[in-house]
Amino acid sequence: MTDIWNEHADSWDDNSDVKFYADQAFASLVATADICGPGWASKRVLDFGCGTGLLAQKVAPFVGELIAVDTSEKMIAVLEKKHIPNVIAVHGDILATDHQCEADLQSGFDLIYASSVCGFLPDYEGAVLALARLLKVGGHFVQWDWRASDGEDFGLSENRIRNALQTAKFGSIRVEQAFSMETNEQTLPVLIGAGIA
Ligand SMILES: C[S@@+](CC[C@H](N)C(=O)[O-])C[C@H]1O[C@@H](n2cnc3c(N)ncnc32)[C@H](O)[C@@H]1O
Repeated sequence: MTDIWNEHADSWDDNSDVKFYADQAFASLVATADICGPGWASKRVLDFGCGTGLLAQKVAPFVGELIAVDTSEKMIAVLEKKHIPNVIAVHGDILATDHQCEADLQSGFDLIYASSVCGFLPDYEGAVLALARLLKVGGHFVQWDWRASDGEDFGLSENRIRNALQTAKFGSIRVEQAFSMETNEQTLPVLIGAGIA
């Protein structure tokens, strides 16, 4: 099956909006989980829906191992060409019920993050439950998504994120605006949703 994200892969890293989003997401990840602190040097991280790894390449220097997974083989191919030493790029859908879990994906993660991914999933709430199961106790879950008002199709609302994180039984839940992006004379707010397993 052709993945709609494949056609964006080759030009993804040249898009200034995409780079801005990754910069802002990284800054808020530092503020949320102190990702640059010494405690993270041996930690395992999952970048869910990693794309070309724009955020992974910022996070990788501070963590032990980073598994970057995406359903678009062309996005993964761009990431693989970057040869980031502690990043393992995995092409596949770890949410698929018939997914053969690779060894890299089986053991627990200290952090799972999803940057501009969850709002595009057909079953966001199911995805949060599945990802929560991959976390160690005390592990962090962090997502960033375009803010939708309740009932809108594009993006995720604050309520929807909060409910999903509560249903997945995360503690210390925080859902708020992380940053905003100016495009085509409109301001698009981006929400961060964070919780601890
Ligand atoms: C808007 S892009 C964001 C890419 C990257 N996280 C970034 O911030 O640059 C959404 C990404 O989610 C990926 N994606 C969509 N559904 C997915 C799934 N079920 N599992 C893994 N990746 C998925 C797409 O292939 C695409 O690369």
